[in-house]
Amino acid sequence: MNYKVKDISMAEAGRMKIEWAESKMPVLMSLREKYEKTKPLKGQRIAGCLHVTKETAVLVETLRAAGAEIAWSGCNPLSTQDDIAAALAKAGYSIFAWHGMNVEEFYWCIDRTLDFKPTLTLDDGADLIMSIHTKHKGLIKEMLGGTEETTTGVHRLRAMADDGALKYPVIAVNDAETKWDFDNVYGTGQSSIDGILRATSVLLAGKTFVVGGYGHCGRGCAMRAAGLGSNVIATEVKPTQALKATLEGHRIMKMDQAASVGDIFITATGMKDIIVKRHFEKMKDGAIVCNTGHYDCEINIDDLEALTKSKRTVRPNCEEYTLKNGKHIFLLAQGRLVNLAAAEGHPSEVMDMSFANQFLSQLRTVREGEKMENKVYGIPEEQDQEIASLKLSTMGISIDNLSKDQISYASDYLAGT
Ligand code: ADE
Repeated sequence: MNYKVKDISMAEAGRMKIEWAESKMPVLMSLREKYEKTKPLKGQRIAGCLHVTKETAVLVETLRAAGAEIAWSGCNPLSTQDDIAAALAKAGYSIFAWHGMNVEEFYWCIDRTLDFKPTLTLDDGADLIMSIHTKHKGLIKEMLGGTEETTTGVHRLRAMADDGALKYPVIAVNDAETKWDFDNVYGTGQSSIDGILRATSVLLAGKTFVVGGYGHCGRGCAMRAAGLGSNVIATEVKPTQALKATLEGHRIMKMDQAASVGDIFITATGMKDIIVKRHFEKMKDGAIVCNTGHYDCEINIDDLEALTKSKRTVRPNCEEYTLKNGKHIFLLAQGRLVNLAAAEGHPSEVMDMSFANQFLSQLRTVREGEKMENKVYGIPEEQDQEIASLKLSTMGISIDNLSKDQISYASDYLAGT
């Protein structure tokens, strides 16, 4: 038995959800159909560290169909869907993941996937790569390369590469347009609102909804909260992003001002200490606070605890903190990713494109890994266009083609008025 999951008897329920996701991930499924014949990943061992969801299961089974052996762990202590982990264990995968693990168990699970001596890694947040570069350096020589899913992980890896500390090539899947421009915006927007609603069931119409950070994820949250009738305030440190938020109809202010007027707060910055003690002190009685960034450092929970007289869990994923000043603050999902901890993560339809990019990037690493340098690579434009085109055709949408005449016009610098 090469797995550790919460309860293997949940496998059947998990399998049903995986089939549901398959029906909404036609791009990835078409890649499965294409590559299960040629098996370009045969002989490769992939260690993955990425949220164990129904969409991830479709990716895992596609990688295996293309010939790879797989060992997997989740990339967040609260994001594993236990029925999915059980279904993967039952199908014979080496999987080490359960919902509600502690930090020590989290790294124990990563270590178990590394017992399997991978040739490729697939990360979301770079914790797996980091473990290899710190605790398991002996594995580096066998490694062809890796892929990274998320903005936070790509930042960590670029910093490592700049320092000369990255010891094998990595492809930044997050940098694909068919990833960040869809998953980060529409995926995060919908799933974060989904998490807030499952945890609280509050009415969003008429609420003041504060988004910390107006990057792609923050923008998605702002857009969807506004669509449900909230008044959105965004906070920013980057002038261009603040300007975009303003021109998209949202108010911009400092968190110091927003703290006293917000009803619901969500952080989406990738930076620590977005909400700290002085903000909690100013919040209204009943304020709801959550995070959708990769790590749980955006809301300073130690500061919240220091102000707290007592706390209790009032609903799943919703803890009520009663402060010494008598006010109540509701913290969702312990300050971890609210979209994955309190809901099911991004919908299958957007993960279809993100994971098609993951899959094609793993294939590219096998083809080109030996020639690649120890740096962070982007995604080729053709891959983005291929995925977008496949996605459109599965949606029954056709688009125009440039005529020959138009193509030559595009490069004719002499043509003017
Ligand atoms: N990240 C955000 N949503 C996700 C999902 N549904 N599956 C895997 N990773 C995710």
